[in-house]
Amino acid sequence: MSPDYCVEDYLTENAMITTGFDDGMKAGSLHALLEHIRGLRAIDFAAYKPGTIRRCLQLRLAATGMPDCASYHKYLSENPGEIDALIDSLTIKVSHFFRNPFVFEALHEFVLPGIIDAFKDDTLRIWCAGCATGEEPYSLAILLKEFIRKEAISPKVFIIGTDIDRQALKDAEKALYSADSLSEVKKGRLDRYFTFKDGLYSLSEEIRSMVTFAYHDVTDLSTPKEGVFSDYHLIFCRNVLIYFEQDACKNVLNSLSGFILKSGCLALGEAEAMPSEHMLDFEEALPKTKLFRRVK
Ligand SMILES: C[S@@+](CC[C@H](N)C(=O)[O-])C[C@H]1O[C@@H](n2cnc3c(N)ncnc32)[C@H](O)[C@@H]1O
Repeated sequence: MSPDYCVEDYLTENAMITTGFDDGMKAGSLHALLEHIRGLRAIDFAAYKPGTIRRCLQLRLAATGMPDCASYHKYLSENPGEIDALIDSLTIKVSHFFRNPFVFEALHEFVLPGIIDAFKDDTLRIWCAGCATGEEPYSLAILLKEFIRKEAISPKVFIIGTDIDRQALKDAEKALYSADSLSEVKKGRLDRYFTFKDGLYSLSEEIRSMVTFAYHDVTDLSTPKEGVFSDYHLIFCRNVLIYFEQDACKNVLNSLSGFILKSGCLALGEAEAMPSEHMLDFEEALPKTKLFRRVK
């Protein structure tokens, strides 16, 4: 793990994966519950690592006082409001601005110039899949703003952040952040792009207006590769695949590759790997950054 990786975040994320359980969750009742969630929200949590799911469900069992999975299933059916709390628990939204700052530096110095050069006349299209409450797409917007100013160029830019947690997307649109999420933001950027008010930092309109937010499930392999979800120069999908089973990871990566233009880049999280079969289509853009360039 590099020193830039936030240890606390890593532990928070991975505790969910490695924690053992004694859970009153028989495979049959868990399967029925996951099917029920799929029916309510069209999200297939069967693609997630079982340890993650069980640990997150345990939190809801404890919060609602239900002794086992079958009782919780009944509770969920009788309390329509519970589904939002459950989705909130199942989706781990640890994030902060400029997470792994060296990736953003590498992007600015080595990756963006090549992309801008190769696609001079295009609108620069960036997609942040699994964007939580917006920290990552807004970091990319700040980076782009500064890059464009420095290079004195004027490309059109489209940045979209997507997630399956609708509340997270609403919070992203509000763009109000605690000091914790800004710990990697340099002072100059903090002064320039944020205003401190009532204990929170509000992001400036000039950056907010650069990002669009929308619901999208990366495991939905039927997403058409046209319209909004087509022809990306850069896709960030960091710290999302870490929660998925291996086969689901491969399917998602297959799907995401189809949205990236040749010579465009895909960013994965520091603890995530590109499966070897995908390395036929990608090459490392820069070692140790988890930035991969599509070559085919
Ligand atoms: C740990 S956060 C990562 C946020 C950001 N990418 C980062 O690295 O800081 C994981 C995000 O993935 C989202 N997520 C989980 N499953 C997803 C899915 N199937 N499709 C889209 N987003 C998903 C969660 O809701 C959560 O906001």
